[in-house]
Order: sequence, then structure tokens, then C-alpha cells
Amino acid sequence: MSAAITNSHVPNLEPKLKIVIVGHVDHGKSTLIGRLFHDTNSLPEGKVEQIRKASEAEGMDFEFAFLLDALLEEQEQNITIDTTQLPFRTDLREYVIIDAPGHKEFLKNMITGASSADAAILLIDAHEGVQEQSKRHAYLLSLLGIKQVVVAVNKMDLVGFKQDVFDAVRAEYTVFLEKLGVVPQHFLPISAKHGHNITTASSDMPWFKGPAILQALDQFATPVTPEGLPLRLVLQDVYRFDERRILAGRIEAGRLSVGEELTFWPDRKRSRIKSIENWGSGTSKTSALVGESVAITLEEQIFVERGQIGSHAGVGPAEGREIHASLFWISNEPLPVNVPFMLKLGTQTVEARVVEIQRVLDSSTLEPITGTRHELLKNEVADVRIRARKPIAFDRCDRISDTGRFVIVWGKRIGGGGIVREADYDSGRPGVASDNITWTLSPVSREDRGELLGHRGTVLWLTGLSGSGKSTLATALEYQLHRRGLATFILDGDNLRHGLCSNLKFSPEDRSENIRRAGETAKLMAEAGMVVICSLISPYQSDRTRVREICHRDGIPFAEVFINAPLQVCEARDPRGLYKKARAGEISDFTGISSPYEPPTKPELEILTSESTMEASLGQLLDFANAFARKGEFSSATEQTAGSGI
Ligand code: ADX
Repeated sequence: MSAAITNSHVPNLEPKLKIVIVGHVDHGKSTLIGRLFHDTNSLPEGKVEQIRKASEAEGMDFEFAFLLDALLEEQEQNITIDTTQLPFRTDLREYVIIDAPGHKEFLKNMITGASSADAAILLIDAHEGVQEQSKRHAYLLSLLGIKQVVVAVNKMDLVGFKQDVFDAVRAEYTVFLEKLGVVPQHFLPISAKHGHNITTASSDMPWFKGPAILQALDQFATPVTPEGLPLRLVLQDVYRFDERRILAGRIEAGRLSVGEELTFWPDRKRSRIKSIENWGSGTSKTSALVGESVAITLEEQIFVERGQIGSHAGVGPAEGREIHASLFWISNEPLPVNVPFMLKLGTQTVEARVVEIQRVLDSSTLEPITGTRHELLKNEVADVRIRARKPIAFDRCDRISDTGRFVIVWGKRIGGGGIVREADYDSGRPGVASDNITWTLSPVSREDRGELLGHRGTVLWLTGLSGSGKSTLATALEYQLHRRGLATFILDGDNLRHGLCSNLKFSPEDRSENIRRAGETAKLMAEAGMVVICSLISPYQSDRTRVREICHRDGIPFAEVFINAPLQVCEARDPRGLYKKARAGEISDFTGISSPYEPPTKPELEILTSESTMEASLGQLLDFANAFARKGEFSSATEQTAGSGI
């Protein structure tokens, strides 16, 4: 075991606090860390002497930064975890520095989820002042939601400990941080090299009335452990012993106990926890908490694998092929739209690509970059849509950070990282009912299909009362879109009830299942590249919303179109005499008469068929559908074809 982590057994008074020290490369991170270890007596005995001698032998002055190098070297030889964790302690509590200065892996460490910081020290060289990197790092902290921050203005000895230099840095940086919504607890003038304001107030800066840096750290609030959050068991490996499968994973949030039922995402297979194994000796456990690595067995031998996330029922992660994210790009090479990379989230690794860059900011000026963008450049931050080749499980970062962050592997290196901004949670959805189901990838991507057809697959969902004009509009629309070269198909309620849905009647449950089947079918056809025109009464908002979610989860554009005509008008039209029969009691559960219709609250388009001519209604629908299918990746085509009339 590394000597550098011997002090971790000291009993804690307060829970451990994970901190990250960020700043421009030359602003003294290593020196500060070496100094913090030294001044808190967190170093192995004889270490300072050893380094001092080694420095002398090389004819160099002793530097605190050398201490850190030595510790890192030792740690590297001794540990298998991929994140550097350097512990030191004060009288109040233990700290872990999760940064690896000099390793240039700050972003990776921050985002991989193995280590999320509770607090940060932003370091600025008093002599050089605020640099671009000082701004970028602050931006990253704000993006990752790290709220507890102190700013240490280092190398005060180089500026004669002058208050006006410190004040100027503070003034400039405060303005920038304010824009990010970052409010530092303290600005501290320090000299890491000479030990000013590290453990006690510096006599060379009597004008400064605030705390020394260690006292400032002790003022940080105790981190709220994600124990109270829903369980996220991130699976690292599945081992087979005889008949048994042992699942090894890390609890990134919440807790688990023997006997509880777990759902594994993204496949949503379920089983109860039979045991929590103890590798080696020790007493066996019945429950485990966030932060623990556990090995469990399940009652049934379901097929689960590395990458999956275990949760309790009803509070699972979101799942889908599309992620709305904020992305921070650090590679020298640009990140183009539609070019595949590997995305790592938790232990999941999946091929993915950015399909849309929605908004770009320069991370040091915070200026929005205008104009349509097809690639991201170094140090830009953007809101993007990312599409994975198969479903993955994730959380919104502000909900559960460890499963809400990801990195992008570009070539062989980390090219950038991001956080999940939005996620549709729908744990009530039934899972995959049977075992041994996997996802087979097609060699043809959605983009390939889109290129072939010249537009994207979409779902247009026409909802409305019987007789409102859905089928008439759907067929006329299909004809016009087809003439314009779009691949189309109509899914009509009446038609589906002849086959796929022939076992369903008109109870709320049957209608729900009817809409689910139609929705899943529409999604598949849109996946194949079609513009799918769905024409179903679909009277319940919750069913329509579910179809929207089914589509959005996999990145299929969905639009709800309300074909609106008052009941009296529909009843007067009564094309098939059904209203008459319903009034006469010959049809039960008839929509509008003996069964409800819930009008859409926020349809993408509403067409009042009782107030405009058929031509006008169709024109409205056609313009919308045409533009919708050619949007985004196909926007240039929109300009050529949209509004061209019927
Ligand atoms: S939905 O409510 O489940 O969306 P869907 O669109 O599939 O209904 O089917 C509606 C069609 O079934 C109507 O156009 C009508 O021709 C026929 N139908 C027969 N019985 C009923 C009923 N009780 N309510 C509504 N439509 C009915």
C-alpha cells in the first residue's frame, strides 16, 4: 500500500470532502498541494528530508512541487484505480484532492464520475493575473455544478504582498465569475511556496482579515452524500462461478439491501438481490451504501453485463439513444457533426455522434458564437444533441451527477466531456419481459438512410374525434409528400385494427395498448427513414405523450397535430353513421358520446377543419410536414421545397 495514503485510517470527525485545485498550469498547483501535505503533517515520515537530499544532489533548491511528484509516482506504482486521489487532513476532517496536476487529465478526472468534487480551489498567479485558463476552469466548475469555491491568489511574495495587486485580481475575476453564477466563499492572498496564509494568517499581509486557506476549506459545508438519492449501481463486471453469476459494481448513489428487487438498465431486466458477497474473510453484509464497491448475486440468473445500471423500481435512470447535453471540447482537433466517436458514461461505452449543435459559447469570453455550426473547436462549450448507436442509461446531471456525466473518446484520447442536460424519466414503462435479449446493431446508420432518402424519418401524429377529418387529411398529405419525393406511410387506426391491433376493443386499457402498438410501429418505420402519418383518435393525452417519449428517447422527431372540429360538426358529418349508432346505444364507449376525448394541450400544429377549406387545411399540414421532415441535417433542402404549394 502506498505510504502516501497511510493517514486515511484516522477516524473522521466530519465526512470526507473531495476537492479539486484548478488554475493555469504555471500558477502553482503542485506547490500548493505539496505545501498542504507538508503543513498538515500528511506526509510519510522522512519524506521531506528524502526529497530535500535528492534535490541537493541534483544541485536544485527544494521545491514543494517535488513532494507532490514523489507522491504521485508512489501512488501510480501502488494503485489500480484510474483516478488520482491524494488525502490530507485537518483537525476538522479528511480531504481528498482528486486532481492530478501535470497529468493534464483534469477534465477526465472531473467527468468520469469516479471522482466528483465537492469543492474547488481556483488558483491564480498574483503576478500574471487572470488568464484564459482561469476562466475556462471556472466555467467547467459551474457547468459541473460545483458551487463551493475559494479563489487563492498565489505568489503574493512576487508582488511584494501588495494589497492593490490582490484587489485588482479579485475585482477582475469577480466580474467574470458573477456571469457564471459562481460566488466564491473567499478570495485569499497566499504564497504556497513560502507558506503564507496556509495554516495561519500571514504577518506580511496584515491588511488581509480573512482566514488562511486551511481554515477556509474547513468552512466548506459537508457534502450531501447521494445516499438519499435513488440507487445507481454501476456494473463493472459479471463473473461466473459454476452456475452462479456475481455482479461487481460501484454504488454511485443510494443504497441497496439483500431481498430488494433491482432493475438493470437499459434492458430493464429484473431480479432480487440474493446476497452481498464478501470477497475474502470478514462478516457478510445485508446492505451497502453509496461509494461502496460491492459484489452481489441475484435470485434469478438474468443476463446482465458491464455497463448496465441497477436501480430500484420506479426510480430508474432515463434510457434512450439520444442525449441532450452540454459539451466541453478540449481536443486540438475539431469535433465535427455526424462523425462517430466513443462515448463513455459510467461503465457504458457506446459509439455515438453529435447530430446537432444547438448553441455554442466561447468558454473564456462567455460570448455566444453565432451562425450555424458543423463542428466544435477547442475550448468551446456547446449545447448539443448526441445520438448513440444503441440505447444507454443515464441521468440528468443535476439529479444524479455520477451517471449524468460522460467523456468523449476521440481517437485514442479524451477529446471532451459533458453533462446530461435533459432526460425523460419513464420508469413506469414495462421492461423487456424475457431474458437473454440483446440489441443488434445495423451496419446502416440513420444518417446513411437519411442521405439515401434526402430527408429524415419523422412521426406526424394526427389526433381528433371520429369525423374530424384525420383520414381525409392523412391520405391527401401522403399523396402530396410522395409526389415531392418523400418516403411516406400512413398508419390508420381503422386499418391497424384489422391486423396488428385486431384483438383490441375500445376500453381505456385497449385504446392505450392500441396507441402503444401504433406508436412503436411508427417509431420503427421512422427509424427506417419514412415520414409516418398516424391517424388515430388517440383520445388520452397520457397515451399520446407516451408515444412522444418513445420517439424522443430514440431521437425520432415527433409532432402532435390536432385535427380539431367541434363534436356537433363531426356528428353532423357522420360519414359512416357511427355517431347515429352510438346515440342509439348500438356502439358502447364511443368517443365524444360515451367515452372522453382529451384535446391536446400543446400540439405542434392545430388545424380547425370546420373553419377552413380542405385545400387550406391541407396546405397548412403539407408546409408543416415538409419542413419538419427536412429540418436539421436537411435544412438546405427545406428552403428549396417548403412553401411550394400543393
Ligand atoms: S383509438 O381511440 O384507439 O385511437 P382508433 O383510431 O384506433 O381509436 O379507431 C377509431 C375508429 O374505430 C373510428 O374511426 C371508428 O371508425 C371505429 N370505432 C368503432 N367503435 C368505436 C368507438 N367505440 N369509439 C371510437 N371509434 C370507434
